[in-house]
Amino acid sequence: MYTTAPVPPSQNSEALREKLLTAAREAMANAYAPYSRFHVGAALITEDGAVFTGCNVENASYGLTNCAERTAIFTAVNAAAGKKLRIRALAVVNSANIACSPCGACRQVLAEFGSDALIWYQGADGICEKTVRELLPDGFSF
Ligand code: THU
Repeated sequence: MYTTAPVPPSQNSEALREKLLTAAREAMANAYAPYSRFHVGAALITEDGAVFTGCNVENASYGLTNCAERTAIFTAVNAAAGKKLRIRALAVVNSANIACSPCGACRQVLAEFGSDALIWYQGADGICEKTVRELLPDGFSF
């Protein structure tokens, strides 16, 4: 878990983006990625203003790899202690500084906790901003 002073809900989008990008870069340093050597960090902020980060965690059985985004989300779910997690925004960065939006699995997990959340990610020409709904149109829900 990343501990920081809660960000007021009123904090503007640009300041929030920079805060989350900085936290994501810090988390990237924790990546366990000996197979791809592609280090990823993510940071999210909840509707309550708490920030959580995550890194990618790989495994010799490659399919068991957990992306940075889901590491951050699962950490936040645990901290919510039974209360429904509501994600306001998430930023994701990578060590190669190449275009990297959340994968399909992470989009589905993000949708569970915030279809309207803002996602900032590295695009071909800098940081892109999209909502989860834009990244996962017509996503599955129960
Ligand atoms: N990865 C992430 O952590 N997040 C993404 O958005 C894309 C991919 C990780 C998974 C794996 O450890 C490595 O990047 C290469 O796919």
